[in-house]
Amino acid sequence: MIRTRFLSTGFRVPDRVVTNHELEGMMETSDEWIRQRSGIEARRWAAEDETGADLAESASRMALEHAGMDATELDCIILATLSPDHFFPGTGVFLQRQLGVTDIPCLDVRNQCSGFLYGLSVADAWIRTGAYRRILLVGTELHSAGLDLSLRGRDTGVLFGDGAGAVILAPTEEARGVLAVKVHADGRHAETLWTDVPGCAHRPYITCADIEEKHHVPAMQGREVFRHAVKRMPEAVREVLGETGLPLAEVDMVIPHQANLRISQAVQKTLGLPDEKMYNNIQRYGNTTAASIPIALHEAVAEGRIGDGALVCLTAFGSGFTWGAALVRW
Ligand code: UT7
Repeated sequence: MIRTRFLSTGFRVPDRVVTNHELEGMMETSDEWIRQRSGIEARRWAAEDETGADLAESASRMALEHAGMDATELDCIILATLSPDHFFPGTGVFLQRQLGVTDIPCLDVRNQCSGFLYGLSVADAWIRTGAYRRILLVGTELHSAGLDLSLRGRDTGVLFGDGAGAVILAPTEEARGVLAVKVHADGRHAETLWTDVPGCAHRPYITCADIEEKHHVPAMQGREVFRHAVKRMPEAVREVLGETGLPLAEVDMVIPHQANLRISQAVQKTLGLPDEKMYNNIQRYGNTTAASIPIALHEAVAEGRIGDGALVCLTAFGSGFTWGAALVRW
């Protein structure tokens, strides 16, 4: 039986650390509010000339190095982002070009915080059917170019951060790798967390008034997102466990999308997991949406908290609404 194995991980966050105290000088907020409501202490913001493809390239090069591979050995790229460098084409082809690769397919995934899991779901199917054998899956985000630091947008302005995480996936006949991956969506909540423009539902697709009225930056009903997130993530974790027949007690590490420390703590409580089985790094990076799971995965592996044979559960919830989970034998 062919399964999808993680060959390696890599990550990159921009050098500039933006603390909550620094934000206090830019907008009406406080370190105390941000810590209490989200657990975030700092986030990274990209330099003026840095792009999402640049962050993705650095994370990918690290993953390639850890796998002992050259970029030319890749046969597919899947890139997840909600903050693309351009309206079109997707960031995937820019990453491909920067890696010096040509001809291989580049799929751009637009599933926000669940983008990495949606990408993993597609990669897993492609690998198991033999379509591709070396897939680079990347989550990259450059939120700092589109944050709303006004009073209206301060709920999202303090949450989001920049960064990228990458993994290399390959087939294996061993009893390891992706054991189950499930993704879901409920479009009834599409406008609960969204960025309205630029968008071709409008004629023209963006106006000066849109920019003045801040329709081009994220708008969120935070409490509503919170309420659904704490329900859907445990549900998805139980679903992938149910699919494999493995008990929750056998899970060694849960890596939740880093949306809000309070959300992760609620998920942990619902599942009844001890602290050492829950990975959190939102304190340092904020919410990096599609990049948060691969960044956390990389750090957990680098810190030795995920070792050979560990049972790892990834779970996400975000805009769309979209959500899901994956169970991986490392
Ligand atoms: O990545 C996946 C998608 N995103 C999420 O999962 C985020 C989910 N939601 C959340 O994490 C939380 O809802 C937030 C952290 C965004 C907000 O926390 P909350 O406890 O739900 O606060 P709230 O939105 O109900 O706002 C409470 C108060 C309001 O003031 P009033 O109306 O009580 O006077 C806000 O105006 O906090 C105010 N507020 C702030 N104050 C200081 C909102 N943002 C800020 C801020 N600094 N940055």
